[in-house]
Amino acid sequence: MKTRSAVLHTQPGRYEVTEVDLDEPRQGELLVKMAAVGLCHTDDHDVPPGSAPPLRLPLAGGHEGAGVVVGVGPHTPGWAEGDHVVLSFVAVCGRCRMCSTGHQNLCDLGARLFSGARIEDPTSFRMSYQGRPVGQAYGLAALSEHTVVDARSAVKIDPDLPLDKAALVACGVPTGWGSVTNMSEARAGDVVVVMGIGGVGINSVQAARAIGARAVIAVDPVEFKRETAKQLGATHTAATMGEATELARSLTNGQGADAAVVAVGVVTGDHIGEAVMSIRKAGTVVVTGTGSMRGGGGGVPFNHTMFTVFQKRLQGALFGGCNPRWDIPNLLAQYTAGTLKLDELVTRTYSLEQVAEGFDDMKAGRNIRGVVLFD
Ligand SMILES: NC(=O)c1ccc[n+]([C@@H]2O[C@H](COP(=O)([O-])OP(=O)(O)OC[C@H]3O[C@@H](n4cnc5c(N)ncnc54)[C@H](O)[C@@H]3O)[C@@H](O)[C@H]2O)c1
Ligand SMILES: [Zn+2]
Ligand SMILES: [Zn+2]
Repeated sequence: MKTRSAVLHTQPGRYEVTEVDLDEPRQGELLVKMAAVGLCHTDDHDVPPGSAPPLRLPLAGGHEGAGVVVGVGPHTPGWAEGDHVVLSFVAVCGRCRMCSTGHQNLCDLGARLFSGARIEDPTSFRMSYQGRPVGQAYGLAALSEHTVVDARSAVKIDPDLPLDKAALVACGVPTGWGSVTNMSEARAGDVVVVMGIGGVGINSVQAARAIGARAVIAVDPVEFKRETAKQLGATHTAATMGEATELARSLTNGQGADAAVVAVGVVTGDHIGEAVMSIRKAGTVVVTGTGSMRGGGGGVPFNHTMFTVFQKRLQGALFGGCNPRWDIPNLLAQYTAGTLKLDELVTRTYSLEQVAEGFDDMKAGRNIRGVVLFD
């Protein structure tokens, strides 16, 4: 069939709505009609001038999506047309060492998702443009009217849930939430700094409030972000990490924050260094934000002897350390219960045609989350 996708044809470039050919789902695959897709900063990392070339072009983008199954590959038990799904940017095999020890976010299948090809066969693609294969970001290409995904990248959800809110639980919500609840060791009574209030960091703010942090310091240069953070649980805000560090020290008798989450849009070593400075002895910095997919950001400037003698911890975090199969439905249950806010995170909606504008708004700090809605 033909479908329309947000495709990156050149690098640097912009996502362009492109009619592509989409193959039928094969065994173990699903054809999904997308309903809503959040615009996450990760989709932009290898797009602007100066960034490293992506792994393959053309690339159909988008990974924070929810939709409805409209086709099921042959011999694919457990799925039916009409199932509602959240797509997971980490596929889950359920069998590898990481999956079987409670770390589905680190499933071995992850290494195979960057090619944009099928998980089992790096030469096999389901999308093409003018006869050339089109890679699907994380095997998904969520920013498409229809897409074909591996069933291991889909999580079935309650069909009564609104898909435009469920989409957020595909990436930004678990990533930000779990960065605090799973990765930071922060607990009730602590002082938590969240650096960067986008679709990821705002959920670290919500999580810090939920675990009973006594102070949640939201840091962002954009005033609107700081104001929104206050509505969603921040007790204090700061425009710079210098201010936030002073604030954390003033609240802790000079010691510093118990934990800091780095959720800046494009993370550099300097950001991580500032976060390390803000925490107390034996505190934790969780690095959630990333830069180019090819790595980058340079070295992290901090005094490593002080880092050692203060016994600080620097912790990377993928998908907030969440398990997609458990945490996606569980976060949606928290939304239903009213303990997690999703409606307030969507600040603007776009049509697929407006996708490049949506990413521009993201980079200009106009959104907490922009969401593309499909008919
Ligand atoms: N680790 C993961 O699994 C994972 C998953 C999703 C996204 N990410 C990454 O998380 C990061 C955040 O994503 P997002 O979609 O929320 O981005 P976003 O662009 O929506 O938000 C980033 C925020 O950082 C703010 N910011 C910029 N410079 C800052 C500074 N020096 N101090 C404080 N704040 C600053 C911006 O104003 C913006 O509000 C990105 O790097 C993204 O790629 C990681
Ligand atoms: Zn994302
Ligand atoms: Zn696995």
